[in-house]
Amino acid sequence: QTGYITLDEGYANTGSCCSAITFIDGEKGILRYRGIPIEELVEQSSFVEVAYLLIMGKLPTRAELQAFSNALTRNQMLHEDMKFHFEGFPPHAHPMAILSAMINAAGCYYPELLRPEVPNHFEEQAARLLSQVRTIAAFAYRKSRGLPFVYPKPQYKYAANFLHMMFSHPTEDVELKPEAVRALDLLFLLHADHEQNCSTSTVRMVASSGANLFACAAAGVCALWGPLHGGANQAVIEMLEEIHRSGDDGRKFLEEVKSRKSGRRLMGFGHRVYKNYDPRARIIKRHCDELLARLNRTDPLLDIAKRLEEAALQDEYFVERKLYPNVDFYSGIIMRALDIPVNMFPVIFAIGRMPGWIAHYREVVESPTRRIYRPRQVYVGPPLQHYVPIDQRG
Ligand code: SDX
Repeated sequence: QTGYITLDEGYANTGSCCSAITFIDGEKGILRYRGIPIEELVEQSSFVEVAYLLIMGKLPTRAELQAFSNALTRNQMLHEDMKFHFEGFPPHAHPMAILSAMINAAGCYYPELLRPEVPNHFEEQAARLLSQVRTIAAFAYRKSRGLPFVYPKPQYKYAANFLHMMFSHPTEDVELKPEAVRALDLLFLLHADHEQNCSTSTVRMVASSGANLFACAAAGVCALWGPLHGGANQAVIEMLEEIHRSGDDGRKFLEEVKSRKSGRRLMGFGHRVYKNYDPRARIIKRHCDELLARLNRTDPLLDIAKRLEEAALQDEYFVERKLYPNVDFYSGIIMRALDIPVNMFPVIFAIGRMPGWIAHYREVVESPTRRIYRPRQVYVGPPLQHYVPIDQRG
């Protein structure tokens, strides 16, 4: 078609890009994975089925889903030599640093999978990365606590296996409460993709140079780590804990944010695309109440979060800037209820986002007009000038 730009030509020259994976309408608060509303997927699907949908572009048949699940089980163990890498990290190393390094390391152990001529090399890479990201994350947690590694078990499904590797004792499996497993599966599903956000754009950028899938995912983890992006879920809880410790009911903190003197922001609020309520936040908020009730737990931070939301949504400062809760505002409450430590929250986000990154990697590398991304700039530096020897400088 005349004037039609391909996926790559658009990004390669302008920095914006077409994609067929996820649709967002920021004004209406709409999110669809491959055209299917997130609300339907939350109610009827699972993280592994949604991962297949995003990566393969369609809902799987029963046989396809079973084969995909078998591939994840087949690939869940790390190469034994990878354990030695963990020894090199200090105990206080942030798990996102470990995750990025170990994902790249994992890619070194399967060079045959990085060769396009190997049959099903992409599917095998995808299954290996999607399955092993969980094992790497759990091992990073165990290492940070000085605990022995707990290996995945083939009888456990995706989210259950992660909780098993995180919290089981080597000789006794942790009790995997169905409501806890379902809540984690929901979090992974809600984070699975989100169009051209900072970290996904990073994955696409790196993929356009021809780097392998593991290198692209490792770069995505680094971009996601920032507190303005995937690190916000950790920053939200640290903000709520600070408010709780101070005895403030939230109003003093909001005044500090509005004064702009400290540069503090209401973390978990605002979004570049959503100028309405993030549909994921609405779903997570509802599940916070349900999960805490089922686990017979309460969390004072949830009460503070709800008070902050109620006050902010009635406050002109936030209303005129169209600042609403985003995916990170309530997600940490669920992770706390699952006893996941706060520095692992961005890691949970990264595990959930892995299918989206894999899907976007595939979209870039399989594009018929694939070109390296090279956004142009507007030069605002000095005009032409000439070198001045050091003795003649002021
Ligand atoms: C994610 O892109 C994606 O899809 C990301 C994501 C995904 O799934 O991949 O949805 C995940 O990253 C969600 C966002 C998580 N980050 C946070 O919660 C951090 C807090 N929020 C912000 O810093 C901010 O809202 C961003 C980073 C999310 C969006 O930044 P923008 O669009 O660049 O907004 P901006 O910085 O231009 O702010 C516009 C105005 C400014 O005020 P003015 O200078 O116009 O007077 O709104 C203010 C900002 O000061 N503002 C906030 C605010 N966010 C924006 N003021 C107080 N608290 C906030 N949270």
